[in-house]
Amino acid sequence: MRIVSGMRPTGKLHLGHYFGVIKNWLNLQDKEECFFFVADWHALTNKYKDTSDLKENTYQLVIDWISCGIDPSKSTIFVQSAIKEHAELSLLLGMLTPKSWLELNPSYKDLKFNLFFQYVRDFLLGKSIKVEEDTLRQIVHDSFYHKREVDFEYLEKGLVDLSIDANLVKEIVFNLKEGDIGKDIDTFGFFGYPVLMAADILIYKAEAVPVGEDQLPHIEISRELARRFNHLYKPVFVEPKALLTESPKLLGIDGRKMSKSYGNTIALSETEEELNKKVLSMKTDTQRIKKSIPGRPEVCNVYTYHNYFTDSQTVKDIYQKCTTAEIGCIECKKILAENLNRFLNPIREKRKELEKDRQFLDKVILEGNEKAREVASKTMKEVRESMGVMF
Ligand code: TRP
Ligand code: SF4
Repeated sequence: MRIVSGMRPTGKLHLGHYFGVIKNWLNLQDKEECFFFVADWHALTNKYKDTSDLKENTYQLVIDWISCGIDPSKSTIFVQSAIKEHAELSLLLGMLTPKSWLELNPSYKDLKFNLFFQYVRDFLLGKSIKVEEDTLRQIVHDSFYHKREVDFEYLEKGLVDLSIDANLVKEIVFNLKEGDIGKDIDTFGFFGYPVLMAADILIYKAEAVPVGEDQLPHIEISRELARRFNHLYKPVFVEPKALLTESPKLLGIDGRKMSKSYGNTIALSETEEELNKKVLSMKTDTQRIKKSIPGRPEVCNVYTYHNYFTDSQTVKDIYQKCTTAEIGCIECKKILAENLNRFLNPIREKRKELEKDRQFLDKVILEGNEKAREVASKTMKEVRESMGVMF
């Protein structure tokens, strides 16, 4: 079975990526024909003004992959922008993409919301106004999606600095409109994100695409475009299916979804000291304010982490000792930090090696590009022929 998947080069990977996507890739590369690529063009769809870190982030992503065990001798690792055929297919698929498919795409709406939210947050921070993140999210959500009045009392509760006039904040949030960020993401490129993504997948006639849950709507558009093309012209494309990881989500250190925008991630490249600090700062069972109160591992994020990184006997032991108040949270976290470090050590080692050897990375990427291009150019011949674009 042929597999294709990509990631945008937006910075170093964290544990959420590892258990959400990379683990899936690792399983697949032993059994299937895998193409993994850096989606650098996609990174430009919302960050086109400052492109100074695009190339370095591309290298960093490949370093993360190989450090985790993605093996260039098993998988084809390449860079999207090296295969110009993706752009050609994207252009041609655009001809048969109804605008409504893109407008209704939930990922598009969510991404727009997130960018808008960040914009509002930064705007307020620029005026030294700090609002509790969840509160602000809710307020922005209300005014963004529902064009609703800002709930004043709710807003007031979320103000971190109580000397600030909630009326002022309300005024600001309400008057910031989508149009203010329009200049950043109301672009043709951003709108066409799913079309380019469909091109990435369909050009390799991939049967399956391992992705995170948030990408499902995009895969759906790819399937619809394959069907539409095959129906209008000739049956060139395979309808790809999404492959989700089975493991439940690993949350961030504050118990929310692990995400860079929350500042709650644990990067794969984290140093030992940074990691220890982060683990010690993790939220536990909030009712357990002192050691003598028995804990509830079921509601403790540290315990969830133990299930990933600690051997099952110790996990059982911790469960028992936590619920009988025999073990304290600090001790419990120390065990976790140790095991997490043990998990990350080989990845760190490999990363150090690769950081020093750009030549090797270039060779991997060049060879991968060659292999990808071979398949892509063959598909494009069929596409041009069946569409009647022959010159
Ligand atoms: N949109 C994906 C993400 O943000 C990256 C991506 C681009 C991708 N093209 C793809 C994933 C093709 C799978 C297949 O994570
Ligand atoms: Fe969580 Fe461990 Fe504390 Fe129990 S002892 S509440 S599992 S951190």
